[in-house]
Amino acid sequence: MAEWFTELAATFDEVWRELAQGIEDRHAPARHPAVATVGRDGGGEVRTVVLRGADRAAGRVEFHTDVAAAKVAEIRAAPRVALLIWNARDRLQIRLRATAEVHTGAAVAAIWAELSEAERANYGGAPAPGTPVTAPEDHAAASDPRRFAVVGCALDEIETLHLGPDRHRRARFTADARWRGTWLAP
Ligand SMILES: Cc1cc2nc3c(=O)[nH]c(=O)nc-3n(C[C@H](O)[C@H](O)[C@H](O)COP(=O)(O)O)c2cc1C
Repeated sequence: MAEWFTELAATFDEVWRELAQGIEDRHAPARHPAVATVGRDGGGEVRTVVLRGADRAAGRVEFHTDVAAAKVAEIRAAPRVALLIWNARDRLQIRLRATAEVHTGAAVAAIWAELSEAERANYGGAPAPGTPVTAPEDHAAASDPRRFAVVGCALDEIETLHLGPDRHRRARFTADARWRGTWLAP
C-alpha cells in the first residue's frame, strides 16, 4: 500500500487524525499549536495554546483563553489567524489559516460547567495578563466565568509539508475547493 504522504486525500485524512489526537492525547504534537495573530502595532504575535476542539465536518478548531489576554483584543481587531503544528515523528508540518471568533458568556457556559477547578483558575486572575508586576507572587489566580473565552477558528486553508525519505511533499487544501488538495513545490 502506498504511504499516506504520497496521496493528497490520505494526507488530508492524516491532518484531521493528528488534530483529533491533539484533543485526546496531552502528549500529541497537535495538543499545543502555535497561534499567530496580527498584533495591535501590525506586527506578528505568536504563542502556544492547548487545542480544545477539532471538527472536520465544520472545518473548525478551538482553543480556550482569558478574555483579558492580548490575543482576544488582537482577534477582535483583526480576526485572521494562523496555527502551526510540527509532528517530528511523522515529519509533518501542518499550517492552518482561519478566521477566528471569540465566544464568551452564555454561549460558552456549558463548556465552563465542564472545566475542572484547576482549569477555571486560569481565567480571572488579577492583575490582567501582561500587566507589569514587581514579583510573580503579585499575581493572584482566580476563577471568573466572565473571563472565559472559547476562540473558534473557521479554517479556510490547510497546508502540509512532509519531509519524506525520498522527497519533500507540500500540499494545500482550501475550503473554497471543498478541501480538494493540490500539490505545491516544496
Ligand atoms: C504549553 C502551553 C499551553 C498554553 N495553553 C494556553 C491556552 O490554551 N490558552 C491561552 O490563552 N494561553 C495558553 N498558554 C499561554 C500562552 O502561550 C500565552 O503566554 C498567554 O496566553 C498570553 O498570550 P497573549 O498575551 O498573546 O494573549 C499556554 C502556554 C504554554 C507554554
